This record gives sequence, C-alpha cells and structure tokens, in this order.
Amino acid sequence: MAATKVLFVCLGNICRSPMAEGIFIDIVQRSGLADQFEIDSAGTSSYHQGELPDSRMRATAQSHGIQLTSRARPFKRQDLHAYDYIAAMDRSVLRSILDLGGKTAPFPAKVFLMRDHDQEADSADVPDPYYGGQDGFEEVFQILDRSSRALLQHILTERAGT
Ligand code: 4NP
Repeated sequence: MAATKVLFVCLGNICRSPMAEGIFIDIVQRSGLADQFEIDSAGTSSYHQGELPDSRMRATAQSHGIQLTSRARPFKRQDLHAYDYIAAMDRSVLRSILDLGGKTAPFPAKVFLMRDHDQEADSADVPDPYYGGQDGFEEVFQILDRSSRALLQHILTERAGT
C-alpha cells in the first residue's frame, strides 16, 4: 500500500504545525504504522524559513516526551498535488491554501481545518500562541493531541473503505 501523506500547515511553521507534525509522528509510531505514513509541516509565510520550532513550543513538546526537530519551510502550490491530507491550523491559513490552489484547478489533497477533528472544539481555529504566554503553548499541545488522535482514526477509517 502506498504511504498516506499528511501535511500540517500554519502561518509561521514554527509553533502549531511543527507541534502537530511531532504529535502525529509520535502517535503513528506508537501505533506501529510509521512505514505507512509520510508526515511534514509547512507555513503559509516564509518569515521563519529554515528555523527550528519556537523554543517555547519545543519546551512544551519536550515536557510531553516529543522532540521537535523540523525546519520551517513555506507551503507551496505543489503540496496540493503531493499530499493526501492537508490540515490547516486556522481559517486564515485554510483560505491561503485554497487561494493558492486556484478556483478551477482540481487537486487531489483533502484540505480541512485541524479542529474539525477536535471533539472538544470551542473555536474553529487552533489559537496562535506566538504573542501570548507559556499557557498558550500547553493549550495548543492539548488541542493538537486530541485532534491528531481523531484525525488518525478518520484516515484509517477512510483507508479501510477504499
Ligand atoms: P505559527 O505561529 O503560525 O503557529 O508558527 C506564528 C509564528 C510566527 C509568526 C506568526 C505566527 N510571526 O508573525 O512571525
């Protein structure tokens, strides 16, 4: 079976999407499914291209036993053709992704909001923690942990049906 390709996208690719990537990799590995997935993250801006995730996000990840080692890279139009699932961290990011896809060109990726998979969601958006305090980073972790578990189940269910 071909690997399922999953991409997580936020604005800077230094807080939310690398955390989602790290959590999803961890869950997939613990489920013994690592060879069935290709997982990456990207940002709709290139402000932080080449940087490691924000040190506050890395510290939060570390406190949950997850190392974040990815380097920021900008989202590109070709990603819509290279990935099966593209999870946007908020509505603004979703709009940017769909705008890049254009109105008419079909693309195979399923593009959706990460919090569509958060059963406790009180907002459509994963809040941007960049300008806030440390609490915001833990909140992002909890949201992404819940959403990632549900997203993996969703993907496995879809794959079983095809
Ligand atoms: P992220 O957070 O989109 O979750 O990576 C941000 C990081 C940096 C900036 C904005 C959001 N920034 O404006 O530099």
